[in-house]
Amino acid sequence: MLTSARAVVAVLATTAMLGYLAQPVQAHSGHSHGKSLRSVAPRDLRIGTAVAGGGHHLEQPYPDPFTYDRPYRKVLAKEFSSASPENQMKWEFIHPERHRYNFGPADAIVKFARENGQAVRGHTLLWHSQNPAWLNEGTFTKAELRSILKNHIFTVVGRYKGKIHQWDVANEVFNENGEYRQENIFIRELGPGIVADAFRWAHQADPRAQLFLNDYGVEWPGGKVDAYEALARQLLAERVPLHGFASQAHLSMRYGAPDQLRGVLQRFDDLGLKTAITELDVRMDLPSGGVPTAEQLATQASYYKTVLDACLAVDDCNSFTIWGFTDKYSWVPVFFPAEGAATVMWDDFGKKPAYYVLRDTLAGARR
Ligand code: XIL
Repeated sequence: MLTSARAVVAVLATTAMLGYLAQPVQAHSGHSHGKSLRSVAPRDLRIGTAVAGGGHHLEQPYPDPFTYDRPYRKVLAKEFSSASPENQMKWEFIHPERHRYNFGPADAIVKFARENGQAVRGHTLLWHSQNPAWLNEGTFTKAELRSILKNHIFTVVGRYKGKIHQWDVANEVFNENGEYRQENIFIRELGPGIVADAFRWAHQADPRAQLFLNDYGVEWPGGKVDAYEALARQLLAERVPLHGFASQAHLSMRYGAPDQLRGVLQRFDDLGLKTAITELDVRMDLPSGGVPTAEQLATQASYYKTVLDACLAVDDCNSFTIWGFTDKYSWVPVFFPAEGAATVMWDDFGKKPAYYVLRDTLAGARR
């Protein structure tokens, strides 16, 4: 029932979209018809997705998506040239006990990526969230905590040396006001200088990986973006191996279009850094019945396009990743009550207007 309702809505939305596109191109039947996102993208831009598993998936009534959903794996291989483990490289997952690592699921993603000609974005090394209980609740001296982080980085980054395109070394280190987050155990206990150390250790463990700062809420200028710019300038001045700045781009239609993102990315490009979009999704308030309206789908498509256009317009924006490609596995309904439908495909992998707009924009990109 849902599928057919959605199919009707998708057709209506395509019609609605023609209104906002400058040229009334046929969204589905341009020269990219039948092609994948990765096949039409400019050569210097990786098109990525989160690879579903771990985290909220563990509480859902389905088996591990990446391992068991064959149609899912097919779309993953066909459409994308980059893969980001959604949870499988986070501390709580890959380092569940102090003296035990769980590499199996991350290894499987890295292997799949190799077989399918995909880059991998490593996520993440220094974060306040999804850390294991042994770390959060342990009592360690400062020297111990420092060596725990250092060993973790050398072990995890070292294991995948030469196989990771980009690492989100530091994730969400600032709050909205641009202050260092005190929830981050390493920052709280060891001071903000630990951020520079994390970059240095990651670089020693894999000198070819591009090392990134990554956060949400940096799609518009403000205190958080200012704090990242100041940090980036400082790290570069101290010759710390920082290579990029990334906007997660978890967007909600409640807060308006991301029309200042290009300017934000440009500020970091101007510092000589690479930039990336790492976790794009666009959630909306679902009408009763759960099916988005044609207008909502058109607005969603326009947000996706604005983010892609921002990346395409900035010289060294080299990686564009969406946080999952199907609503079937999206984190959004689990974390944002009453919001959903945030990805570019329905549960059955049917394509929404946002998918076609991304593909047409990639196909038409000049750079
Ligand atoms: C989310 C995952 O999608 C969920 O499966 C998990 O339960 C919680 O984390 N910022 C990040 C991502 O950097 O790692 C988060 O991923 C979403 C917000």
